[in-house]
Amino acid sequence: MKKGAQLYEGKAKKVFATDDPELLIVSYKDDATAFNGQKRGTIRGKGVINNRMSNLLMQLLEEKGIPTHFVKELSERDTLVKKVKIVPLEVIVRNRSAGSFAARYGVEEGIIFAAPTVEFSYKNDALGDPLLNDSHALALGLATREELDTIRGYALNIDGVLAAFWKECGVTLVDFKLEFGRLSDGSIVLADEISPDTCRLWDSATGEKLDKDRFRRDLGGVEEAYQEIMRRLEAQLQAGKKDQQS
Ligand code: TMP
Repeated sequence: MKKGAQLYEGKAKKVFATDDPELLIVSYKDDATAFNGQKRGTIRGKGVINNRMSNLLMQLLEEKGIPTHFVKELSERDTLVKKVKIVPLEVIVRNRSAGSFAARYGVEEGIIFAAPTVEFSYKNDALGDPLLNDSHALALGLATREELDTIRGYALNIDGVLAAFWKECGVTLVDFKLEFGRLSDGSIVLADEISPDTCRLWDSATGEKLDKDRFRRDLGGVEEAYQEIMRRLEAQLQAGKKDQQS
């Protein structure tokens, strides 16, 4: 499948047309931004890691019955995906307090929740992605009642699958952001990416941050953290394959 015209360039990825109107190619960049684009930088090798990690995790989710946009990895940075219309919601699932949750409610980071929380924000950079509830999303016509219920259900199932998987890697899945899209038949699938850019991943033993917070907060060791989390993921997938064979 060949890359056609570039349709879009976002903060971390470019999107290209293909000769199939139902398929697109996403191409992962090393560019990193934070705080709605105010902080900019490069994380060397990030595009390669995020492409691979997102594809592996989406395949894991597909195996567990969650539909995704993933079709095929084409190269180190490029992946063939189903064309979707993105639902303009950032869907955030949290297992522990951190980031904007801790700041908004004035609590420390790391508090373990009795049950995961799901929150939506309106995907709109000009407005700074404001938090909204179901009624607001319905009032703005961002999604239907049924779509919101589907998205929330998928988000919680994804949390169950990913938290269990990362636990096996010695990693705590603190929180993460998802985006969903509509296929041409209107059905909802997981889109965008799942990577250290979009998840908080803490070493279960030491609490060390192995995600983009190292860049956001100038903690250093950013590239090394991305490499370490990828190494653990691949080791765990290998161990899982060996278990299946024996
Ligand atoms: P937050 O605590 O800053 O709201 O972030 C929650 C999760 O969402 C965290 O894992 C990082 C991720 N995230 C994104 O993927 N994109 C964003 O623009 C923001 C603000 C957070």
